[in-house]
Amino acid sequence: MNATPRRIVIFGATSRIATETARLWLARGVHLVVVARSPERLRMLSDDLSIRSGGLAEVDAVAADLEDLDALPALWDSLTQRFDDLDGVLIAHGNLPDQARCESDSQAMLRAIRVNALSAMTLLTAIANDFEKRKRGVIGVIGSVAGDRGRKSNYVYGAAKGMLTLFLQGLRNRLHGSGVAVVTLKPGFVITPMTQDFERDGLLWARPEAVARGIVQAFARRRDVVYLPWFWRPILWVIRMIPEPVFKRLSL
Ligand SMILES: NC(=O)c1ccc[n+]([C@@H]2O[C@H](COP(=O)([O-])OP(=O)(O)OC[C@H]3O[C@@H](n4cnc5c(N)ncnc54)[C@H](OP(=O)(O)O)[C@@H]3O)[C@@H](O)[C@H]2O)c1
Repeated sequence: MNATPRRIVIFGATSRIATETARLWLARGVHLVVVARSPERLRMLSDDLSIRSGGLAEVDAVAADLEDLDALPALWDSLTQRFDDLDGVLIAHGNLPDQARCESDSQAMLRAIRVNALSAMTLLTAIANDFEKRKRGVIGVIGSVAGDRGRKSNYVYGAAKGMLTLFLQGLRNRLHGSGVAVVTLKPGFVITPMTQDFERDGLLWARPEAVARGIVQAFARRRDVVYLPWFWRPILWVIRMIPEPVFKRLSL
C-alpha cells in the first residue's frame, strides 16, 4: 500500500525535523494540524507554511504544553471534534536532557522521561483507540537510535526513547489487521537546535530535510521501523550484538 494520509496532526510541529516534514506534506496537498508549545513559534510556522503554499494551504494551529499529561486526552478529543477526518499523526516533540544533571537530580531525570516518553504514550493511548475505531490511519512517532542500547553518555534520554520503542512495538502488534499502521522512526545524529552544542561534522550527521524525506516515505509506505538515514540500521545491529561484558567497558 502506498498512500499518504490526507489530514495529519503533528505534535511538536515547531521541531526542526517536524517543520521540514510539514513542508513536504504541504507540497503534497496534505491538510495539516500543527500542535506546539510556543504560540509565537506556532504562528511563525503557520505563516511560513501558508506563504509556501501561496495562501492555499489548509493549516490549523493549536498551542499546547505536551508535558501536561493530564490535559492530553482532552486535547486529542478536542482535535477529533474539530477535525473529523484525521487519518495521520506524527509525534515529534522531545528534548535532549543534560545527562549529568539527570544523574544528580531525580526530578530532572523524571522530566526527561515525561517529555520524551510518557507524553507520547499518553497521546498514543487516546489516538490508538480512536484510529482503531475508524479502522484506518497512520501513527508515526520519532524515537531515536539512542533507544536501542543504553550507554553512559545519554542513558536517561535513551531509556525514554527505548520505552517508547517497546510501547510502539506492542501497539503495532495490537493494531495489526485493524487498518492502522504504527511507524517507529529512529533518526541518528541530525543537525537541529537539539544538537546545537555538539560538534556536528562527519559523515554520520544528517540534515533535517533528509530525515523529513524519510518520514514522508515511511508514512506513505506504512513502514514498521525506519532508521534515518538507513545506515543506522546496520550500525545499531552491530552495537546491539556487542556482548554486555564487553559493552560495559566501552566509552560511548
Ligand atoms: N536532532 C537529533 O539528532 C535527533 C536524533 C534522534 C531523535 N531526535 C528526535 O527528533 C524529534 C525532533 O527533534 P529535533 O531534532 O527536530 O529538535 P528541536 O528542533 O529542538 O525540536 C524539539 C521540539 O520539541 C518541542 N517540545 C519540547 N518539550 C515540549 C513540550 N513540553 N510541549 C510541546 N513541545 C515540546 C520543542 O518545542 P519548543 O520550541 O516550545 O521548546 C521543539 O519544537 C525529538 O523527538 C528528538 O528526540 C532528534
